[in-house]
Amino acid sequence: MITASRPVLVAAALSVILLVSWLVSTSSTQVNWYTCHDTNSKVDTANKAMDGSLARPVNNFNYFDMNQLNASAQDTHYNQHVLILTPFKEAARHIERYFENVNSLTYPHHLISLGFLVSDSQDGTIEKLQQHAQDVSKQQEPWQRFNRISIFQKDFDFVLSEEDRHDYDVQIKRREIMSKSRNYLLASALTEDIAWVLWLDGDVIEYPATLIEDLTSMDKDVIVPNCWWHSYNEEGGYDKNNWQETNESWAFQSTLKPTDVLVEGTYVGVRVNRIPVSGLTLASLNRL
Ligand SMILES: *[C@@H]1O[C@H](CO)[C@@H](O)[C@H](O)[C@H]1NC(C)=O
Ligand SMILES: *[C@@H]1O[C@H](CO)[C@@H](O)[C@H](O)[C@H]1NC(C)=O
Repeated sequence: MITASRPVLVAAALSVILLVSWLVSTSSTQVNWYTCHDTNSKVDTANKAMDGSLARPVNNFNYFDMNQLNASAQDTHYNQHVLILTPFKEAARHIERYFENVNSLTYPHHLISLGFLVSDSQDGTIEKLQQHAQDVSKQQEPWQRFNRISIFQKDFDFVLSEEDRHDYDVQIKRREIMSKSRNYLLASALTEDIAWVLWLDGDVIEYPATLIEDLTSMDKDVIVPNCWWHSYNEEGGYDKNNWQETNESWAFQSTLKPTDVLVEGTYVGVRVNRIPVSGLTLASLNRL
């Protein structure tokens, strides 16, 4: 799938912005904190309900009418909740910028929830994230507050140096861990009121304040903008993980075993014959 959108500036490293309309369908900010390894350190009182030792009420069920949930471009009344999901790993240095950006979003903040999954971090990512989450909840004006902020910690004991993370040999394991962490995050943060999910990487440094409106207005179930990368003397499309299939790429894939994994990017080896979105120019997009 190829979709034109405004360029988004990104820092080095993996950058993904992905908006997913959710088929399933919330006012002060609620900050929740969950850890998956030390059950004694749970801070969130809501978690007490998970403790089997506590008495449960007799009428212990919820009813949700999800027929009222719509994810549509036609919605100009801003009543669709958006969940922004971001995995963080050794990312303390990105957190300030991340919050500056989400705080600038023009989409009504009471309709935005934030979900974070922090893994394998020794650089104070969790502490800094908790601090920022507290700050945006307590210090901001009510209209600036997000609906909910949830921080989940799940360690995979997978550590890669910045130099090694793009090595071909580690890609399958790295992507396996990335998939797991995204599954944990989505499964933990998705609630019945969410119409759209925005996957936003923690190291994206700049995007339009109208990002959510821009993406939802395209009226697509899944949409990926072309992230733009630049250094002091170079610039270009960044993300090699979004592409357009070609006849040749389909033919090549028909020769693969179900267990084969294709790794996109600038790796030497098989030519998969896909056209990366990052290689597309505005001119070539207009011809599509
Ligand atoms: C969602 O769509 C249904 C069916 O089209 C409609 O009846 C309902 O009013 C919509 N709800 C909202 C909140 O827009
Ligand atoms: C791809 O294959 C289809 C079906 O055989 C054909 O109609 C189309 O022209 C091909 N596209 C290109 C760019 O060769």
